[in-house]
Amino acid sequence: MELPFAESWKIKMVEPLRSSTREEREQWLRDAHYNVFQLPGENVYIDLLTDSGTGAMSDRQWAALMMGDESYAGSRSFYELKDTITRITGFDFVIPTHQGRAAENVLFSALVKKDDIVPGNSHFDTTKGHIEFRKAFAVDCTVDEAKDTQLEVPFKGNVDISKLRDVLEKDAHRVPFIIVTITNNTAGGQPVSMENLREVRKLADEFGKRVIFDSARFAENAYFIKTRENGYEHKSIKEICLEMFSYADAMTMSAKKDGLVNMGGFIATRHEDWYEAAKAFVIPFEGFLTYGGMNGRDMAALAVGLEENTEFDMLRTRIHQVEFLAKKLDEYGVPYQRPAGGHAIFLDASLILTNVPKEEFPAQTLTIELYREAGIRGCEIGYILADRDPVTRENRFGGMDFVRLAIPRRTYTDNHMAVVAAAIRNVFERRNEITRGVKIIWEAELMRHFTVKLAPAD
Ligand code: F0G
Repeated sequence: MELPFAESWKIKMVEPLRSSTREEREQWLRDAHYNVFQLPGENVYIDLLTDSGTGAMSDRQWAALMMGDESYAGSRSFYELKDTITRITGFDFVIPTHQGRAAENVLFSALVKKDDIVPGNSHFDTTKGHIEFRKAFAVDCTVDEAKDTQLEVPFKGNVDISKLRDVLEKDAHRVPFIIVTITNNTAGGQPVSMENLREVRKLADEFGKRVIFDSARFAENAYFIKTRENGYEHKSIKEICLEMFSYADAMTMSAKKDGLVNMGGFIATRHEDWYEAAKAFVIPFEGFLTYGGMNGRDMAALAVGLEENTEFDMLRTRIHQVEFLAKKLDEYGVPYQRPAGGHAIFLDASLILTNVPKEEFPAQTLTIELYREAGIRGCEIGYILADRDPVTRENRFGGMDFVRLAIPRRTYTDNHMAVVAAAIRNVFERRNEITRGVKIIWEAELMRHFTVKLAPAD
């Protein structure tokens, strides 16, 4: 008999979970103004809000913490981190930051100005926020295939090269750089193919532009290239990473994802002029060049995390768990962005809560129902997260309306995923009775989803 697949690690430390009653959860939802970001973590049974900073570190990472060098300037842990990043990406210049959005803030402060246009594939909300905050525009050039959640294509995160060409032909002088997010979080954790990265590079060269990779989940992207793209099946993840980054000029990184740490990030680039420009902002915003917002010990743990997470077995374990949940949902007929992505399952609320009008935010409604059902916290990646159009101030209903179930790395077991699937099934079975959603009673101007206050629609 062929042996079944199992995790490439075993568990050394555990943390108790607490379940709750439906009545308790009703009250907690009211207290949180129906915004799951406002729920205390303690009131959540299985937390799939994000895979960002919520994973478990390995014994080797914990050991590295003890060896961290806390020197203000010239920390040994910085040099170890920098060497690891250079080895994996080929980038020589590295600036640590306290997380991914801080890397965006520092680099974009140097590069983005009013009226600029930054084309890319479904910019993440903080990325879009940092562009729009500077009165510039983020133009989404994701392939249209990403919008059809039931279409099974291997690289739904790709940049549509002809859309990108149109932007460059029309407005090249306003484009400070192109940004490619690997994997494409907003489109469903969907990967970008090596071929597409190569084409973006070619087009960028034609117009004399530089390319940044928003690399939060670069290792998962490399895994999909290895398992889905011709010619890469015999390459190691590290070889694939080196080739991917050879098509970029720089990266911003949220190390809280594929760096396997709870906090941290960095900028890396091959260009000294960008490094020099970013230096001017990292010191006032983050800290000195050799720590930039991170503890020495955290840089030490990150170096180990990057090393571990660019190994095939680690990635296979992770993606296997996402696929496990996907297969259960297939059994129950629940629609999600297909094929299953790298870090999460994205439920397609527009196909599930078909009786809830878009003005009442179906994905947010589904997020609330799932919490009500079983204390499972997902996250709306939909019309609330999309914010309002900066010019018209209208809600943006043009994109997708997903509930993201992001799976933390090395944290939950497949049994937890079976509970998640069963809870979704229960909500799915009563989907036709759910006819009303929520209305906004208070919202922030940018990145409203974190703090928005909602009430049941009347
Ligand atoms: N880029 C991408 C693609 C991201 O997914 C995130 C964060 C960031 C940048 C910003 O990084 O959080 O370290 O400041 N994504 C988290 C998420 C929050 O839940 O997807 P950060």
